[in-house]
Amino acid sequence: MTALLEVSGLTVRFGSPSGEVHAVEDVSFAISSGESLGIVGESGSGKTVTCMSLSWLLPSPPTRYVGGRITFKGEELRPHQEKRLRHIRGRGIGMIFQNSRLSFDPAYRMGAQIAEVLRAHLPQPWRELRPEVIQTLQSCNIADAEAVLDKYPHEVSGGVAQRVSIALALLIRPDLLVADEPTTSLDLLSQIEVLALLEKLRRETGLAMILVSHDLSVVRRIADRVVIMYAGRIVEQGPAEAIFSDPRHPYTQGLLFSALQKREGGRLFELPGTPPDLAALPSGCSFRPRCPHAFAACEEMPALLPAGPAREARCHLLDPAARRD
Ligand SMILES: Nc1ncnc2c1ncn2[C@@H]1O[C@H](COP(=O)(O)OP(=O)(O)OP(=O)(O)O)[C@@H](O)[C@H]1O
Ligand code: SF4
Ligand SMILES: [Mg+2]
Repeated sequence: MTALLEVSGLTVRFGSPSGEVHAVEDVSFAISSGESLGIVGESGSGKTVTCMSLSWLLPSPPTRYVGGRITFKGEELRPHQEKRLRHIRGRGIGMIFQNSRLSFDPAYRMGAQIAEVLRAHLPQPWRELRPEVIQTLQSCNIADAEAVLDKYPHEVSGGVAQRVSIALALLIRPDLLVADEPTTSLDLLSQIEVLALLEKLRRETGLAMILVSHDLSVVRRIADRVVIMYAGRIVEQGPAEAIFSDPRHPYTQGLLFSALQKREGGRLFELPGTPPDLAALPSGCSFRPRCPHAFAACEEMPALLPAGPAREARCHLLDPAARRD
């Protein structure tokens, strides 16, 4: 099957007073039409920079796109081809951000901004679209849809703003929807509702989705496949069920164990230590300072190694030759 989106060797860095920040290093993955991919990792592991780079959304400079190839529907997307990229963004690759309220302009009413976005992507005029917009907002649990169109962004809650973003995705129907921590800034009830809406969106439209979250239970509900990131690199990837039932990388094992403890209301297990400074990475495996299994070979950076059917993990434990050292 040809991939809808293929990312190969993506490497993104930023300058900083303490040195170059290695935000994303040699990241490769693919997603097919109709598939959902979860990206999981602690704060600062490179999830957002990866997602923003799919349509080269970060300004360069200061962002330094060091390497990588992005192919979408067979077409290579290159940085700085702004006109083409604007066309891809929205209808090709749509994005929902953590705090959707911030993506609306505070000076304009929600309705005017929704109309503006739809005008850029759909051929029909606003007066024709308005009834469908209201119906879609209602289907996204916004009962007072007409009133919301008349409000300014600061007059709606974070949950409503997030539901408006999902309604826009339903109306525009991108080939690939990237949802970056879509439930993180919401209260518990809104989190449950927004997640249910995303599931519905996937079921009803069959669109491909990348769901970014540090919450494994969110990803578990929606993802077919999972990518685990640590310190800017992929450390494990494969089918969601296989990874959740038998994680192969010590970092994934720690994440899952801590999620399990939380779910069972036990004493909260936190991975010991903190993620490394991306401007001063340790030599060898980036997880080495926190890994309970580190051994001599870990002083070298491990490659992504086969870890089962359609699975790979970046750990020397998977290499019998390294274990004999
Ligand atoms: N504009 C920038 N300038 C300098 N460093 C940046 C910039 N944007 C991101 N970074 C750094 O790149 C690294 C990866 O950031 P990113 O936002 O992708 O992490 P994340 O995994 O999305 O984290 P979170 O879970 O907190 O959203 C971080 O160390 C961050 O500080
Ligand atoms: S390579 Fe070594 S340090 Fe890194 S995760 Fe595997 S065992 Fe731990
Ligand atoms: Mg992020």
